[in-house]
Amino acid sequence: MAVETTVAILGGSGELGQGLGVALARAGVRIRIGSRELERAVQAAEAIRASVADAEVEAATNADAVSGAELIVVAVPFATQAGLLKDLKAHVSDGQVVLDATVPLATAVGGRPTHLLGVWQGSAAQQARSILPSTVGVVSGLHTLSAADLLSAGRTAAQDTLICGDSKEDKALVSSVIGLIDGIRVVDAGPLAMSRLVEGLTPLLIGINIRHKVHAGIQITGL
Ligand SMILES: NC(=O)c1ccc[n+]([C@@H]2O[C@H](COP(=O)([O-])OP(=O)(O)OC[C@H]3O[C@@H](n4cnc5c(N)ncnc54)[C@H](OP(=O)(O)O)[C@@H]3O)[C@@H](O)[C@H]2O)c1
Repeated sequence: MAVETTVAILGGSGELGQGLGVALARAGVRIRIGSRELERAVQAAEAIRASVADAEVEAATNADAVSGAELIVVAVPFATQAGLLKDLKAHVSDGQVVLDATVPLATAVGGRPTHLLGVWQGSAAQQARSILPSTVGVVSGLHTLSAADLLSAGRTAAQDTLICGDSKEDKALVSSVIGLIDGIRVVDAGPLAMSRLVEGLTPLLIGINIRHKVHAGIQITGL
């Protein structure tokens, strides 16, 4: 199925970027892999094509990747998120929506992956909001999805991803794209300020993964 939305994945050469790239390509979504280095983006796009033969995937530098993309996924470590977004401020356009997957893990300061850092603005997503122009939407999500799960085609366990944002329209766009991934249900978890709680689920899951040697996800019941 061809999908009209173009999704730029910044940090697309990384673990989440590759997993998401493969999952979206499999769902027929047109994607653009962004990297600091064009060559790394080209290699990452080739890896996605190797997994999904008919993938609609382009490669670009992060700055070029955002041009014309309706949805821009930020998939970089917390230590680099603010710097990346400051660099991109000049390249984003009114009406674009940023989907921020950043988790402020303590690994950013040499700490443990099971610990969460405090962020002045309240969460990594709110930090993104404070940097980007107000004409660009910010939604947070994907925090509890495992890159390894996204890569594997035969996932059996259905799971949810919680999204937070202050605009219903922006969340609807994210939901319509991410909801195309097989086995993933997108659940609206409220305003962007709720991201502080959602981001905290990741270190919890990392601890469970280490203890049980799994790729754990979450599922909200009763919906
Ligand atoms: N891995 C997961 O399963 C997962 C799941 C949910 C959420 N997350 C969150 O998603 C984000 C990305 O996670 P990840 O595991 O994919 O990270 P990663 O593989 O360590 O890094 C992702 C990409 O970020 C870019 N990057 C690294 N250092 C950078 C710097 N100094 N400046 C600019 N870009 C830099 C690199 O791309 P280039 O070198 O090509 O520019 C790298 O490939 C994190 O915030 C993480 O907490 C991860």
